[in-house]
Amino acid sequence: MLGCGSAMFSSEMYDDGYEHIANVDLSSVVIQDEREKNAGRENMTYEVMDVQELRYEDETFDVAIDKSTMDCIFCCSNSVTMISNMMHEAWRVLKPGGLFMTFSLHDAEKVLPYMGVDENGLDFNWVSVKCMKIPNPGWTKGSDKSKTHLIVSAVKPATPGIGPTNSSNTMVEQQQPIVLSEEEGGEEETTAPPRVTQQKSVK
Ligand SMILES: C[S@@+](CC[C@H](N)C(=O)[O-])C[C@H]1O[C@@H](n2cnc3c(N)ncnc32)[C@H](O)[C@@H]1O
Repeated sequence: MLGCGSAMFSSEMYDDGYEHIANVDLSSVVIQDEREKNAGRENMTYEVMDVQELRYEDETFDVAIDKSTMDCIFCCSNSVTMISNMMHEAWRVLKPGGLFMTFSLHDAEKVLPYMGVDENGLDFNWVSVKCMKIPNPGWTKGSDKSKTHLIVSAVKPATPGIGPTNSSNTMVEQQQPIVLSEEEGGEEETTAPPRVTQQKSVK
């Protein structure tokens, strides 16, 4: 869990049977609190760690989850570099065939470019990229809360050792944004990894 914060997400996953969860967060206060709260959940770890520099071996995890940590980093002045670093680390620690998931309050148009190509134009080569928009249960008319949550899932290719590749053409076609209306509510799969027309323009 990349930037676990104090959300119930990991503990609820644990209680649903997904027990082997490594939670990291930059905040030592959060990590200490969560360690205490989850002391009984023995197979779950909490470590103070920067998502840009994970202290895990390559190809360790089946799944890497970001829930609003990317959103948080969007607010930083050097967000392009930071998210690029985070995505490289998420890619690195995922096993071949591993799943990356991000939960965001932003639209797909904002998030997908960061997942597609890093700040140097290296293409992450995700496969089976899926976007879903689900209604935010906390939204009420007139509130300043986001009306929907975006979920993106992307799979690292099953071939071992594959890394982000130097795209021969970083000025590639713009992927049609995958934005489902609230009424549609469903799910759509891209046929290609998300791309950006020019990485420097993603911010
Ligand atoms: C918006 S909160 C989301 C927390 C939690 N995932 C949730 O869904 O409620 C963002 C979290 O990311 C953490 N964070 C921000 N930058 C980070 C970084 N570079 N490395 C690790 N954690 C980071 C913050 O400390 C914070 O707990």
